[in-house]
Amino acid sequence: MPTNRQKISDSPCHPPFPGELTAETFLQEYWQKKPLLVRNAFPDIRSPLTADELAGLACDEDTNARIVFEQHEQGHWHVIHGPLNEDDFSDLPDKNWTLLVTDVEKHVPEARQLIDRFRFIPDWRIDDLMVSYAPEGGSVGPHTDAYDVFLIQTQGQRRWMINSEFDDACIEGTELRILERFTAAEDWILEPGDMLYLPPNIAHHGVALNECMTCSVGFRAPSYAGLVSEFAETIAADLDAESRYQDPDLVCQVSPAEISRRALGTIKSRIAERLTIEDDRFVRWFGEYSSEPRAGIHPFPPERTLSTYPELTASLTADKFITQSPASRFLFVDQDDSALLFVDGRSYVTSQAFARSVADNRSIRAQQLIEAVRTDHDRHTLLELYNTGCLLIA
Ligand code: SIN
Ligand code: CO
Repeated sequence: MPTNRQKISDSPCHPPFPGELTAETFLQEYWQKKPLLVRNAFPDIRSPLTADELAGLACDEDTNARIVFEQHEQGHWHVIHGPLNEDDFSDLPDKNWTLLVTDVEKHVPEARQLIDRFRFIPDWRIDDLMVSYAPEGGSVGPHTDAYDVFLIQTQGQRRWMINSEFDDACIEGTELRILERFTAAEDWILEPGDMLYLPPNIAHHGVALNECMTCSVGFRAPSYAGLVSEFAETIAADLDAESRYQDPDLVCQVSPAEISRRALGTIKSRIAERLTIEDDRFVRWFGEYSSEPRAGIHPFPPERTLSTYPELTASLTADKFITQSPASRFLFVDQDDSALLFVDGRSYVTSQAFARSVADNRSIRAQQLIEAVRTDHDRHTLLELYNTGCLLIA
């Protein structure tokens, strides 16, 4: 049986898979293929925040929170959306409800540490950490998700039932997509530290057996419909709005109502020319798109911004660390002899050494990052990332 130490040295570039498998085996055999239950994946797990702290976060303007209620007798489901307030929490029933808050890692550093245990999947595929709290009976109903998810039990016990085969009819009269006729093929009780991985489109139903908290690491898998419409919108925004269809070679037609094949051919080829995907443009667009922050989640600029790079380096004494803001998203793409660094929807041309150091490390010794600085672009980028609050000095 491999130990964690062996696994780290086998795979120096990413954290080990939580449990006994290696990340490589997990990717080959389970990722996007089949569910996996890992007992004791996180032996020393603690919830990244308490139930009270979660309720506090749910009342924050910038968070995405909801409470799902189930009224068993009537088979009735009901949801209220955040931001929540104290009144929403004052008369909650004893059982059968769940509070869920998404994007918790953008607000709580301990949650960021937990989600970073999954960096054997590339950052651009990782979406967020959702934390749920439920008393006995709490559940969001049997449902499917379009994304992969790791469900980590951090407190109490939850019974998980799953089935890869299911009738997709949903209960009517609720905005929640709850399967009307779910039956379980497999059934487990998860204890603190246990983890269940589910690929997309597996029916699942998790019911709290007692006061419990569950952390869900969710992934991004952009839909092609969404990508095409986003990319087309970017292209359209760059086109000259005054460039229009022209037909100085127009000839008389027999039927005035007919759209001629000639006109259709011209329009089709003009659209195709404009939709041609040049590699440089595509790479920049995709990186900017993938690093865009969630609505309402932004880093805070420092109290005092700096005007020059030497001013910045002067403040970086040997004991200082440079840390990514939890609200920021850092990605990069290697180019021939440079890199494109993407931060929160913006792109920067930098050296490869700088892009790698600043994006791969959530926190890095300031001196180490300075040593990776190669070009004036790196210097400007570092200064700008500090001044916009994407990088913090601590
Ligand atoms: C939960 O945490 O209660 C629900 C998570 C899920 O089913 O995706
Ligand atoms: Co789910």
